[in-house]
Amino acid sequence: MNKKSVLVSGGAGYIGSHTAVELIAAGYDVVIADNLSNSDMSGVEGVRAITGVDVPFVNVDCCDREAFAELFAKYDFDSVIHFAAFKAVGESVADPMKYYHNNLLSFINIVELMLASGKHNIVFSSSATVYGEADELPVTEATERKPATSAYGNTKQMCEDILRDSVAAYPQLKGIALRYFNPIGAHPSALIGELPRGVPQNLVPYITQTAAGVRECLSIFGDDYPTPDGSCLRDYIDIVDLAKAHVAAIDRMVEDKNKERYEIFNVGTGRAVSVFELVNTFERVNNLKLNYKVAPRRAGDVVAVWADTTLANNELGWHAERSLDETLKSAWEWEKRVRNIK
Ligand code: UFG
Repeated sequence: MNKKSVLVSGGAGYIGSHTAVELIAAGYDVVIADNLSNSDMSGVEGVRAITGVDVPFVNVDCCDREAFAELFAKYDFDSVIHFAAFKAVGESVADPMKYYHNNLLSFINIVELMLASGKHNIVFSSSATVYGEADELPVTEATERKPATSAYGNTKQMCEDILRDSVAAYPQLKGIALRYFNPIGAHPSALIGELPRGVPQNLVPYITQTAAGVRECLSIFGDDYPTPDGSCLRDYIDIVDLAKAHVAAIDRMVEDKNKERYEIFNVGTGRAVSVFELVNTFERVNNLKLNYKVAPRRAGDVVAVWADTTLANNELGWHAERSLDETLKSAWEWEKRVRNIK
């Protein structure tokens, strides 16, 4: 089993492509599996262009057990990072079965195929959404999870539990769940970045598309929250920093440095940033004015969530490094490249 080889499911997508780049930079061989349901080949081509490596790509739906099994038989890897999942919170409320079917079945297939083929290490893409409206801030990994308010959030909790229980029962497996806060920004090369289909649901792509003239006006969802400036607080983590956290997680398992066979880490900056602060910073660092207005609160938004990152800092030896200024510059550079803006 090649310990320095990693299957990246969903590797054509936003977080997956950035992670593939950092894995390759750290000396890993990478195989990307993706069905391109919410991405296209530009992510894979970007990874190849940045790294100069002709990364293998397999167009496969992780829910298609037979096709997925072929990939497990064909490639010699020992670790999987599982990104492939649907991620639109609102859509998951409207069509929960789409989320339960895709997000659960693909992960169940991964765990079962790992077991069947004698492979060892699983990193699961979890989310700060598991904390809901937390009782204590910042949240630590020991902060209680709250009942999910969307099918999307529920699949994150359920997959964490599937991984926890599988690792407990099958000595062959090790697992790490990484709970991402709000990933933003793009690779400094501007060759890969976030490419949402349709109207962006997340703040930063909406900002960059508004700046590019694709959207008319950004709506700031609520200015009457109990926060210093009335807008929600989040922990915005740079995408390259987030990608590097995955390398640290894989290193930890490959090098047998993990303390438990199943571990959870928050991946954030530890800093709470309001929507207004984010918008103002974007305007300042990119020297432009954004068209925005205050709109009513968005259903389902928590007031505030940010990470205590002590565990990831101490155990993974990982720290968020890029400043918010750099990250928001990179987000704009990426949008400009996508829109052919000079
Ligand atoms: N926001 C706006 N206008 C927009 C979009 C967002 O004001 O057009 C605000 C939101 O109200 C929120 C903040 O910007 O206060 C961040 O919103 P995002 O949609 O970018 O991110 P969320 O914090 O809602 O959600 C993110 C991920 C989810 C994940 C969640 C966990 O997108 O997948 O974090 O906390 F579940």
